[in-house]
Amino acid sequence: MSKPDPLPEQTVITGQVALTEQKIWDLPTRIFHWMLVLCFAGAWLTAESERTQLLHLMLGYCAGALVLWRVVWGLVGSRYALFSDFVRSPAVALRYLQGYLPGSKLDPARRYLGHNPAGGWAVLGLMALMAAAVASGWWAYQSGAPDVAGEAHEVLSHALLILIGLHIVAVIFTGFMHGENLVRAMLTGRKGALPEQGIRSSHRFIGLALFAAVTWLGWALYTGRLPGLTA
Ligand code: HEM
Ligand code: HEM
Repeated sequence: MSKPDPLPEQTVITGQVALTEQKIWDLPTRIFHWMLVLCFAGAWLTAESERTQLLHLMLGYCAGALVLWRVVWGLVGSRYALFSDFVRSPAVALRYLQGYLPGSKLDPARRYLGHNPAGGWAVLGLMALMAAAVASGWWAYQSGAPDVAGEAHEVLSHALLILIGLHIVAVIFTGFMHGENLVRAMLTGRKGALPEQGIRSSHRFIGLALFAAVTWLGWALYTGRLPGLTA
């Protein structure tokens, strides 16, 4: 009797199915994510001092531009970037979370290649709060930061920080439960999947164009080329 063929390199076996590394997150989604992280961290670090105010505005506006872009990409992007792939009803999200409770009679929370049903709501929440932080910052700036606008901006940016903390804990926890490194997947775009589950194109050109456009916006704001926003 002949021996079975050895498995191809990089093949992992989960249950009965052989999974190989497939592209799940396109480049625009990854560029969006990591530029957003940098903008948020930068805006946070430059928030308190007069001296770094222009940097604060620049990073905040870039975060806002990234969120606007992501709304468009959520409508026309690749499979797992689409809202239609990851926005599910709150009831589905709750049932998903209940699957993690000890002793739950529901199916154990299953692995998703894109965002899971609870993660989908977190993504919407992160984007909405980010947009609200930017809008309130703009309001505070235009009105010379009188109490209400400044207060709203402070509350919204702190709420955003809390949600980001939860997001990071959830990402690490979910990855641990399913034995995969989700952070690495958000960097490389790849996850173990069936070949037909991978996306066909990374949309590299669009990803690089997004990077260039946001970098240009930051430079233009910082050098006073868009005085309507920073003057
Ligand atoms: C400023 C802080 C952060 C913000 C605002 C943020 C926001 C987001 C958003 C909006 C998404 C959805 C991506 C998309 O579909 O376009 C996402 C996904 C993700 N983020 Fe973050 N993130 C932050 C920090 C981090 C950090 C520090 C890590 C790493 C520890 C991380 C890891 C991930 C991962 C792995 C995903 C994909 C989750 C999945 O597999 O469903 N994020 N994040
Ligand atoms: C990622 C987006 C942003 C984050 C996370 C953020 C965060 C913060 C934080 C934490 C503070 C300090 C609040 C305090 O303790 O009083 C602050 C202050 C401020 N930010 Fe932002 N900000 C963002 C975007 C913006 C934008 C886009 C603008 C203007 C266009 C802006 C304008 C201001 C102004 C004027 C203050 C001073 C407010 C005051 O003195 O009460 N921010 N921001």
